[in-house]
Amino acid sequence: MAVLGAGGFIGSHLVPALLARFDCRIDAVDVDLTKLECRDPRVQRIEARVEAAGLVEAVTERCQVVVSLTALCNPAQYSTIPLEVIDASFTHLLPLVKRCAERGVRLVHFSTAEVYGRTALDQHGQPTERMHEDDSCFMLGPVGRERWTYACAKQLLERVIWAHGQHGALPFTIIRPFNTIGPRMDFLPGIDGEGTPRVLACFMNALLRGEPLPLVGGGNQRRAFMDVSDMTEAVCRVLERPKQSLGQIFNLGNPDNDVSIAELGRLLADSFGQLFPERPAAQFRSVSAEEFYGPGYDDTQERIPDVHKAQQLLGWKPQKSLALALPAIVRDYSERYGARVAAAEAAEASAAFKLASSA
Ligand code: UGA
Repeated sequence: MAVLGAGGFIGSHLVPALLARFDCRIDAVDVDLTKLECRDPRVQRIEARVEAAGLVEAVTERCQVVVSLTALCNPAQYSTIPLEVIDASFTHLLPLVKRCAERGVRLVHFSTAEVYGRTALDQHGQPTERMHEDDSCFMLGPVGRERWTYACAKQLLERVIWAHGQHGALPFTIIRPFNTIGPRMDFLPGIDGEGTPRVLACFMNALLRGEPLPLVGGGNQRRAFMDVSDMTEAVCRVLERPKQSLGQIFNLGNPDNDVSIAELGRLLADSFGQLFPERPAAQFRSVSAEEFYGPGYDDTQERIPDVHKAQQLLGWKPQKSLALALPAIVRDYSERYGARVAAAEAAEASAAFKLASSA
């Protein structure tokens, strides 16, 4: 099989999980495979862009199953580089979908919980608590709110995939991940990336640097976070059960881990404090969305998945509570980045000292 986006956060966890479960050969494709630490000989590492000439043809010739994960999926990018976001989520993936449809290659495509938009609505547009794959309406904000470029591009690709399945012969499954978290998520600004990552990496960055954790709009908005191990298990079950998963869209998330962003910050700070009791207690600061993301940002106040369909058809239920998941994630970030953050801070301090002495 092929995993496109194998060097991303979910891909880097999924490849070893697939090897363990299916003992298969994997074409692992990404522009950057650094995060894919697994060096198993059954994995062919292919450093390429998904839109590179010949890539889709080569992969769909060799593989009977393609898992597609490539996207630009940080909200900070949706309103700063919207055209790249639309290309990565839609334009560049159209040839893949078409080719899979032509050749009958099974496509397991990662869409996003963002497609539901600002809030959960039933078929009549009435508010509901949970977002449902086959019943919920989508509510995206106005075009000027560029936050929704990603959701809209992802939604359109879902509709293309669906149409190829309904009116052609594309064997597909669409996955909508809800705030999956774990080691190797995104990057730390100034260490292994630039810009603003998603909330987990933002908070770990602040904790490691001893800076206050930024709470956008005070941090009352809520998300249901799911450990990445629950995600890889669900994807394995999708692959194992074609009869139950073909032609289906699945929400994959953990409704039991629904917390406010401020609560997530406190839980991470607690885990961090237990690991480093000598460090001063974490601080928090409220920041406006405009200040944090610039113009064009918008947000979802609450995002809880209905996962009954995955439970029924895949026999899957997310297992990991935040109490279990977060300490391991905090430890991994601290081991992975602690020394690099300290070195970067020392270099910054020395540069500032030199500047001050030359002034
Ligand atoms: C993002 C993506 O858009 C989705 O496609 C993806 O499914 C989802 O992450 C995910 O991780 O699975 P969102 O939940 O808004 O959606 O992403 P985050 O950047 O993690 O933000 C979560 C909330 O925390 C937002 O309300 C944001 O404003 C807030 N936030 C973020 C803070 O309060 N402080 C920060 O430092 C960063």
